[in-house]
Amino acid sequence: MLITFVKFINLWTKSMPIAYIPPFLSSNKIQLLPIKKDDLNLIHHDKLNANKFREFSVTNLTSTAIAHPNIALIKYWGNKNQTLRIPVTGSISFNLDSLFTKTQIRFNPEILSDILLINGIKSTGSELDRVTSFLNIIRNFSGSHLNAQIQSENNFPIGTGIASSASAFAALAFAASSALGMDLSEKELSSLARRGSGSACRSIPDGFVEWYPGENDSDSYATSIAPANHWDLVDLVAVVNNEHKKVGSTAGHELANTSPLQDARVADTKRRLDIVRSAIKFRDFQAMAETIEQDSNMMHAVMMTSKPSLMYWECHSISIMKSVVSWRSSGLPVCYTMDAGPNVHVITTKDYAPKIHQRLSSLKGIKQIYESGVGGKARLING
Ligand code: DP6
Repeated sequence: MLITFVKFINLWTKSMPIAYIPPFLSSNKIQLLPIKKDDLNLIHHDKLNANKFREFSVTNLTSTAIAHPNIALIKYWGNKNQTLRIPVTGSISFNLDSLFTKTQIRFNPEILSDILLINGIKSTGSELDRVTSFLNIIRNFSGSHLNAQIQSENNFPIGTGIASSASAFAALAFAASSALGMDLSEKELSSLARRGSGSACRSIPDGFVEWYPGENDSDSYATSIAPANHWDLVDLVAVVNNEHKKVGSTAGHELANTSPLQDARVADTKRRLDIVRSAIKFRDFQAMAETIEQDSNMMHAVMMTSKPSLMYWECHSISIMKSVVSWRSSGLPVCYTMDAGPNVHVITTKDYAPKIHQRLSSLKGIKQIYESGVGGKARLING
């Protein structure tokens, strides 16, 4: 009924789209509030209704959430809709249990514009703009005009290919929607997180996760394909460089189609997804290993052959990958994958993690190793 109402008012006003403000946010029953075209997309598809909002007090608009980053085994690289972050292919990942972003958000009428603190340091410029644009989607969705203070903490380096934007936007989507009284399903939360950073949709559900690319805002979301305790994989992130990367993923996705290799990569993705989904189901390390290395290499081949070219590999990244392959050929369950950064994710099982950790420690150029098992879903930690 609400959607019909929004559509009706849109037809009526034509040039001025509006959103519905839930009654508890306003002394008037309904207010008109300008919203952007893209934001309407979210409202139309998600069948928003008044039940999506729980009762809450306007003086208590604070919420805190935790989300884990995830490592993609089959990668997301390239969008068919850049604004909505609708990817050209599906992807599969698992959450990293010992790494996390914890985000507290406080909406308050006295805050004049959004304030963002990352690890205690005030952010400005494009980082803040990205968060404000994302919060505008949620504000328009919920009908709130309030600005917010966001305090976000990570226990791992950001912007270095350890999926910090995934955990950051998953935690922010959960905390902000909850603070504004929205009671979203996991699917809706995953779709919403995707609007902040594509891979963030995979940090909402539990354990091993698949993102279905979909065609529009409501059918592009991720679900769990196996719980965290299904398979005791371990990701040893070998950090060779923890400086913030110069070209981020958002700019990278836009370049994907400039590579002549992207079409071939996309055409072969269903095959790789099927192998890895089944390898997870049957805990078949060997099948997973070969396919995820191939998938990572294919994505980096696209990156390297884009215009301009993106080269995330460094000398030490290459020597780690070569060592991992030789360790596997000697019988160890170990393989690698790399995201948009120089750091190498070395995947093994819990039993072999100490041995692989030790071997990695003896290689040159590794500044730090983060060890993580398979992590759970994003969660609120209020109260
Ligand atoms: C290489 O999700 O960081 O890590 O949607 O622009 O925020 P935006 O991109 P992002 O891209 C992730 C790319 C990747 C592969 C993956 O995680 O699937």
